[in-house]
Amino acid sequence: MRRAGVAVVAGMGLALAACGPDPQPPRGAAELAQLAPSNPRLAALYASACKNCHTAPGVEAPPVRDREAWTGRLNQGLPVLVGHVVTGYKAMPAGGNCPSCTPDDLTALVRFMAGVDEGA
Ligand code: HEC
Repeated sequence: MRRAGVAVVAGMGLALAACGPDPQPPRGAAELAQLAPSNPRLAALYASACKNCHTAPGVEAPPVRDREAWTGRLNQGLPVLVGHVVTGYKAMPAGGNCPSCTPDDLTALVRFMAGVDEGA
């Protein structure tokens, strides 16, 4: 059931992409899974840690680049968000399960995920 839904959503995503830029269409799990920071080091850290929760359906984590999910959180200010990753926040483990992430890495990853830096 879920597989069929993902395939349909992914197909719609391709159709939309072919029609030109869209402000921000809702993204399916398959589409979310393809987003990654362009910096290779950040991309590796992201793939090994954050991505596992922030693109997974059914987890309470705000999906990567989901503007609606991030706006309210961003209003707290970026340093607060990064601090929550460092200390852990509700269901998110301390450090976001990324022991190799430096504080700068975490800041860059939050900027990427929240859509502050489209190209980070
Ligand atoms: C084990 C799953 C998991 C991993 C791994 C994880 N997160 Fe999260 N994250 C969550 C969940 C769940 C929430 C939502 C917590 C809530 O608000 O209930 C969250 C919330 C956040 C928030 C918002 C905090 C706030 O104050 O609203 C940020 C920023 C964040 N994650 C960044 C990251 C980064 C960066 C990484 C990788 C270094 C990461 N997360 C890895 C599960 C995870």
